[in-house]
Amino acid sequence: MIIFMKIADIHNLFIKKGIESDFRGITGVQKLLDHKKSKFQKLSLKEQEEFDKEALENPYMDSGVYHIAQDKEIGQVLVGIDIGPEEILLAQKLGNIDLVVAHHPIGKGLAQLADVMDLQCDVYNFYGVPINVAEGLMRERISEVARGVNSSNHQRTVDTARILGVNIMNAHTNSDNMAAKFLMDFIGKRSFERVGDIVSALKEIPEYKEAMKIGVGPKIFVGSPEARCGKIALTEITGGTEGSPKLYEKIAQAGVGTVVGMHISEEHKKEAEAAHINIIIAGHMSSDSLGMNLLMDELEKQGIGIISCSGFTRFSRI
Ligand SMILES: [Fe+2]
Repeated sequence: MIIFMKIADIHNLFIKKGIESDFRGITGVQKLLDHKKSKFQKLSLKEQEEFDKEALENPYMDSGVYHIAQDKEIGQVLVGIDIGPEEILLAQKLGNIDLVVAHHPIGKGLAQLADVMDLQCDVYNFYGVPINVAEGLMRERISEVARGVNSSNHQRTVDTARILGVNIMNAHTNSDNMAAKFLMDFIGKRSFERVGDIVSALKEIPEYKEAMKIGVGPKIFVGSPEARCGKIALTEITGGTEGSPKLYEKIAQAGVGTVVGMHISEEHKKEAEAAHINIIIAGHMSSDSLGMNLLMDELEKQGIGIISCSGFTRFSRI
């Protein structure tokens, strides 16, 4: 049965999908929201007024709806990994786009990117790092990211959408959760001996196969194809952006041998080398496309047309 969807329905569906594939589980996410609610209730009236109430319902504040020009049933969406004013102009030029969906945060979602990074503490804890150690190391990194995004021109794209009357939203951590869960199931179903075997398996996934055509398929950044992989962790697919580089030593102590991630900075790479952790970089746009494809499948099921742009490679699994 086709369900007609408006923008809020699409956002709510994407949040629900993100929660269902969250490392913390549905109850873990609910606990987090309950904790936020109890903290909110203890605030003064003035503090409650200043508090963004959306945070009490949405566990992924880097994902949301930023401008509704026309609250209509959605028939076709333009989807991209990075949406800037250029893509808003593109949507207008195409003329048959009811909604633009970005992956990377824009507007308020970008300003609140650090808010989702707590998730990483639970991911590290899942792979055996004590929660106190994960929280201790992530605290500094989270405040660093919060300061880093503070100076951005957050509203640039949203302002363009507002002026041109284009509907716009994004799905970031909910989409990355989908990619992480997919990869976890994919890797979990097989047994791997060497790092090169994981890379070969990843190359079977359509998004990575496509990325190989332009030279950005899965690659080993630390280690060699012959190195034995040991326990594989997906600590760097979801949770906002890169975590603390000091965590490589901790996951090595927790028994992890290989990390599969989307992208890695030079500083993180050096720390991984020092901790003897093998690093496989599956690819950035391709991994982001994987998560977005899993969400877009949900729209396609409802008969919504999908046009891809800005690094998003569409592959349907329905
Ligand atoms: Fe990304």
